[in-house]
Parts: sequence; structure tokens; C-alpha cells
Amino acid sequence: MAPNVAPLLEAHLAPAALALAQRLGRTAFELGIQTYLVGGPVRDLLLGKPPRELDLAVEGDASALASRLAAAGETEVLMRSQFLTFKLRIAGIEVDLATARRERYASPGALPQVETAPIAEDLGRRDFTINAMAVALSPQRWGELLDPLGGQEDLARGLVRALHDRNFQDDATRILRGLRYEQRLGLRLEEGTERLLRRDVSFLAAISPDRLRHEVERILDEPAPERVFRRAQELGVLSAIHRPLRWEPGLQEATLRLRQRREAHPLAYLSLLAHSLTDEEAKGLVARLNAPVDWRRVVEDVGRLRGALSFLDDPGLRPSEVEAVLKEYAPPALEAALALEHRAHAQRWLQEYLTRLRYVRALLTGDDLLAQGVPAGPFLGRILDALHRARLNGETTSREEEVALVRRLVG
Ligand code: CTP
Repeated sequence: MAPNVAPLLEAHLAPAALALAQRLGRTAFELGIQTYLVGGPVRDLLLGKPPRELDLAVEGDASALASRLAAAGETEVLMRSQFLTFKLRIAGIEVDLATARRERYASPGALPQVETAPIAEDLGRRDFTINAMAVALSPQRWGELLDPLGGQEDLARGLVRALHDRNFQDDATRILRGLRYEQRLGLRLEEGTERLLRRDVSFLAAISPDRLRHEVERILDEPAPERVFRRAQELGVLSAIHRPLRWEPGLQEATLRLRQRREAHPLAYLSLLAHSLTDEEAKGLVARLNAPVDWRRVVEDVGRLRGALSFLDDPGLRPSEVEAVLKEYAPPALEAALALEHRAHAQRWLQEYLTRLRYVRALLTGDDLLAQGVPAGPFLGRILDALHRARLNGETTSREEEVALVRRLVG
């Protein structure tokens, strides 16, 4: 008999999500459709964690269910795709609803061709056994666990196991996904899976820049991205993404320092990853990831900062001098530079800039100056700059002092 995990649903789903899962199971059942919780949330439930999202698969027509839900109210269709999937918001909760399906890949890295299929086949097209389980939500089968590929046993043994030996060839983003699961969930790639991964690492070349960036982004959002990077280095994954990319052992310590002070910006980890690249190599990474401007800045700035920071190792600098230089760089790149910096004064200035100086503004605005009779134009701009510098340096601390400074400057 199939095991039943209803107690886990009841223990780990938030009350509103639990009520919604029951309602979805019932509504679908009335339409003759079976509904399942599937993939990541099932894995998380079995690990005793609250699921991060509600991913559902239906045997039958997801669009019929989506229409029925929409007709009953409280349901918004946020997205529908050509792959028979819907993103819905029902009573304020986001739900991913997919029609159980089989997929055929015309060529490695290509988008799959899709047909409807029974849930067991849908599970069989997935990436890893731990993600290939489903829990039935219909009233009759509430909580029934479908685990045709041994996911529960692999979870218990701490293994990330590929479903078949073309797993990474079909979709090489699974290489990065596998490493993410390993490190986030404290699991280990099963031996044969690790061999397949090493064999197929070159298939990453077939992944489009946007898909690759999306996977890198998911790594940056992990609580400890450096663990994924370290493992990716070990398995030859980083150089398959971009030949010169490396994660050096010394960077582990820098990432600890990065998190010591406060929560790090996710892009600070990307900056650390890119810190030893030459300008040309950094440009290559930007192109490989089709990086948007904020990514491009952290990748390129960290290299530019290497040479630029020697002047900071001086306790006698004025805050306005520090600010004038550091404002040219993206803050996550400065966070990375701080984590890599060993000179005490440079550390202190970077820290001071990141936590305070970059937020300092003069109290008077351009409008205030116009009201005081300063004519519009470049002169006004220079006065605003002088006010900003004075405030950075602690020479003015109130509106009155700023007004007095303006009078002196105009005079
Ligand atoms: N999946 C897959 N191959 C991929 C991407 C996804 O087989 N390249 C399957 C997996 O079964 C996965 C499910 O689709 O569990 C949903 O994908 P996603 O939401 O990306 O994964 P989660 O497991 O929910 O990951 P996370 O916990 O990081 O959100």
C-alpha cells in the first residue's frame, strides 16, 4: 500500500495553504481530475520543512480546473504558458498548476515538446529522484505518496540521484540545480550521478545565456552560495560556464567575512566569484550570462577596485574624499572588496562608506537654494556639492549651519 503523508501536510503547510490544497483537491475531483502536490514541496515536506511553494500537477486538463477556479472567484490567472501550465493566485496564495506531461527533447538544450501523460510518467521526466515524488490531494486519496523512483529512500540516505543517464544532456541546467540541492539540503551527489555530471559538464555550453543566468541567480539567493561555487569548482562546472572562472579556496574565508558584518547583497557573491578575472575575462562572463547592468557593474567593478583602493589605507583622509571615489563603484562590489581587504584603514573606510557615507545628503535642496535667491545653473550645482561635502565631513550638522555656509559661499 502506498504510504500516506497526510500528517506531514497537516503539520508543515500553513493553515491557509492547507485549506487551499484541500479545496483544490476537491474542486478538481468534481471535474474528474486528480491533483497532486509535486516536486520541491513534497521533498521539503519529507525533510520536515515547510514547502517554499505550492507546485501542483493535475492528471487531465489544467485549463479546465483553472477556469472552474476562476469562475468560483478569488482566483487570478497570473500567467499561462504554452506548456499547459498556469500560475494562479487563489485567495492570496500563489500556486503553480501544471498538466502532468511527457517531454521529448529534439536536441540537447532545446525546449521540450510536450504531451499530456499520467502522473507516473510526469515524475519520470524529472531531474532527480528526490524531486520525482507526488502527494495526492483528492478527498479519497488525500496524503497518498507516489514515489515510483525511490525518492524517499534517497532522501533518507542523503543522496541526489539522477533519474537516468541522459539527465544532464537533456538539460544541463540540472547540473547547477543538483549542486544547489546538495549544498542547501546537506545531501551528496550519488556516485554514478557525479560521474554523469562530470561526463556531461560540457553540455552547459548549449544552455542559453538567460537560462544560465537564471540558475546562477538561484545560487546567489541560497543562504551559502560559496558552498555551491566550491563544489562547482571541484567538478569542473565553473570553467564549463566560462573558461577562466575559478573559486579559490581562500574565498571561503572572505565569504564568512562578507556575512559577518550584516546580510550580504546576493550580487556580492558574484563579485567575489569574478574578483580575479582580467577586464577581458570579466567582459566574457558578462556576455556569457547576458548580464543586465547591475550584474555587469559588480563583475567589472571588482577588478577595477583592485588597483584603486591603495589610497584608502590612510587614516587622514577626509570622508568627502573617500565618498568621491567610492561612489563610482557598485555597492555589492565594495562589499566584496571589503571582504577581501586586509589593510586596517582601508577596511575601516570601506565599512564607513557602505554603512554611512553613501547615505549622507545635505539638508538643503536645490529648491531651498533657489528660494534663498541663488540663481539656477552650474553655480547652484557647485554650492550643492559643497553642502554635501561639508555634511560628509561633519562641518555642518544642521539646516542653520548649511544656510550660513550658503551665505558665505554666495558672498
Ligand atoms: N524540474 C526538472 N528539471 C529541470 C527543472 C525542474 O525535472 N530542469 C522539475 C523538478 O521535479 C522540480 C520541479 O520541476 O522539483 C519544479 O522546479 P523548480 O521549482 O525549479 O524546483 P524546486 O525543486 O521546487 O526547487 P526549489 O526548492 O529550489 O524551489
